[in-house]
Amino acid sequence: MTAPLTERTAGETGDDQPSVLLDGVSKTYGQGRNAVPALDDVSLSVRRGEFVSLLGASGCGKSTLLSLVAGLDRPTAGRIDTRGGKIAMMFQEPALFPWLTVSANVEMALRVRGVARKERRARAAELLEIVHLGGFGARRPHELSGGMRQRVSLARALAQEADVLLMDEPFGALDAMTRDLLHDELERIWRERGLSVLFVTHNVREAVRLGDRVVLLSSRPGRVAEDFPVGIGRPRVIDSPAVAGLASTVTERLRQEVLRHGR
Ligand SMILES: Nc1ncnc2c1ncn2[C@@H]1O[C@H](COP(=O)(O)OP(=O)(O)OP(=O)(O)O)[C@@H](O)[C@H]1O
Ligand SMILES: [Mg+2]
Repeated sequence: MTAPLTERTAGETGDDQPSVLLDGVSKTYGQGRNAVPALDDVSLSVRRGEFVSLLGASGCGKSTLLSLVAGLDRPTAGRIDTRGGKIAMMFQEPALFPWLTVSANVEMALRVRGVARKERRARAAELLEIVHLGGFGARRPHELSGGMRQRVSLARALAQEADVLLMDEPFGALDAMTRDLLHDELERIWRERGLSVLFVTHNVREAVRLGDRVVLLSSRPGRVAEDFPVGIGRPRVIDSPAVAGLASTVTERLRQEVLRHGR
């Protein structure tokens, strides 16, 4: 399929440098009889400014892969190169400081970046507007819904002004309308900032809606099973026939992978 003219790919930016490179990466947790092989010989690259969606059955090693790229853990074998870029991670759980207000949670990330105290409050308010939480800055995380907490977590990730954004099922807990709004926001921010994004999801349409590519991992241990280029022009609509069509092809492939492992 040829890409429509509106399609934006990292190649068109003239910059094919990978900002994340995994070369023959394996990860085994534990040792001996208790060893759990989570990833096996995964090679994957994300070009600068590219949006890569990562799909795979539960337990196939997606969170493991992100934590290795974030440098939170080390691979058992293989090489990971993030070219010295700054990395921000958004976890499956929002992981906010419960004793801090929503604004202070975002300000904390700005402080770590060295933003002056007097600028932090205003910048945090701007970021909260972006995720549609203007006016919630003085609340504490327990006063928000799960989806709202996840949006604070997105604002905090954006506050880090990273080059690479790692996202682990960030919108799984959101209602469809909020999720669609955040897709639009995320796409806008990604394009404006030229971010490289590695986005884990269980939602195949979401993967196709957002990604330049959809990478499918197999299970036990995780390997790259298939890499689907998404030749659909942007902006995309999650319920459009083009997105739904590719999503059904990817779903079929995912089903084969899950069946192959008896789940
Ligand atoms: N810290 C750990 N110690 C031991 N085993 C682990 C650890 N973290 C993950 N695993 C194992 O590694 C495998 C991959 O886990 P991982 O969390 O990466 O999967 P996932 O693809 O993110 O799953 P999900 O879609 O359910 O979030 C699983 O078998 C899991 O039990
Ligand atoms: Mg996970």
